Amino acid sequence: MKAIDNMDINGKKLLIRVDFNVPLDNGVITDDNRIRAAIPTLKYALDNGASVILCAHLGKPKGKVVPELSLAPVAKRTGELLGVDLPLAPDCIGPETAAMASDLEPGQALMLENLRFNPEETGKTAAERGDFGQKLASMADIYVNDAFGVAHRENASVVDVPKHATQCCCGFLLKKELEFLGDALSDPKRPYTCISGGAKVSTKLGILNNLLGKVDDIIIGGAMANTFLLAQGLEVGNSLVETDLIADAKSIMEKAGKLGSKLHLPVDFVYAATHTATEAEGVCDADNIPEDAMVLDIGPKSAELFVQVVNRSQTIVWNGPMGMFETPAFAEGSFAVCRAAAELEDALTIVGGGDTDAVVHLLHLADKFSFISTGGGSFLEFLEGKELPAFKALKECLNK
Ligand code: 3PG
Repeated sequence: MKAIDNMDINGKKLLIRVDFNVPLDNGVITDDNRIRAAIPTLKYALDNGASVILCAHLGKPKGKVVPELSLAPVAKRTGELLGVDLPLAPDCIGPETAAMASDLEPGQALMLENLRFNPEETGKTAAERGDFGQKLASMADIYVNDAFGVAHRENASVVDVPKHATQCCCGFLLKKELEFLGDALSDPKRPYTCISGGAKVSTKLGILNNLLGKVDDIIIGGAMANTFLLAQGLEVGNSLVETDLIADAKSIMEKAGKLGSKLHLPVDFVYAATHTATEAEGVCDADNIPEDAMVLDIGPKSAELFVQVVNRSQTIVWNGPMGMFETPAFAEGSFAVCRAAAELEDALTIVGGGDTDAVVHLLHLADKFSFISTGGGSFLEFLEGKELPAFKALKECLNK
């Protein structure tokens, strides 16, 4: 993939697609990590004589102007981090916006308003997306994609702009995601362990099926483990389960054995009566879950077992917490796994997804991991082995 440092950008206008879909609380950004992650690309562009037109989405305004989802706070924060004045255009296309883009001098930047205020951005078909991508592309000389978080979306700014752009490339953030998730994991140091957690098996089936046979160990925690217990014929009380996926869970367990990936399931749990509980009611073994209990974290024996697997790993990919870590009483399982992975010295440790990222940040251990992906859905789809629309579109643009 051609990156921005392999392009002649001096005096050029760059349309840079970023993923600044940050959490907001009453208009205040509560976590600016996604903005910070794109700063190296933006700084490089501005320092090397380009002018920058930034485009991004925020939330799901469904094709309508939703004032609470304006990118105004994001433009302000990005300008502060870049140390430049970053005006916000009134729209992402149209005469006024095009004039602002055209007036940009080298070293100057502009942010377009939320792409998803325009229904064509998220149109399901090329016809529904219309000429929105072409209009965006027409404002710049080069299209730069630095938005891994949205790489799995067939949105106009991701798949149509490269069709109409004369030149295109990826930014440093996208390049790094490809290096870690693509190159590093194609020839991993072994033992290679996948830690999978979170609430639902349904969102992880693709990744588990793709990694079976490729990884040496698969640790399964979080509520998704409950469906595996059911598939083994155990009772899980009132715990969250996906009964329609019992057959899939069985098939994963069978395939794991045949393909040489060892599956590790929790052997005990911390439980309470309901997920709104703030205190644990007790700890039980996996084959002795009380009828009226809801398991909310892996128990101490499981944590010890999982930590042993982590300790002997040389490559780790982790997506999904081990329990309801948002409540301190049910966080210890996720914390134990996180601390163990963070302590590995020469291993490659990769984390992806919002909740897992939150666990790492809660423990202030982000700098102890080799790489924290900015992707959520895109991270999962990439590891499912799918070709993401963003990469397909960039490749086609590079080959034209
Ligand atoms: C994300 O937050 O995961 C990305 O920005 C994609 O957002 P979306 O799920 O609304 O497309």
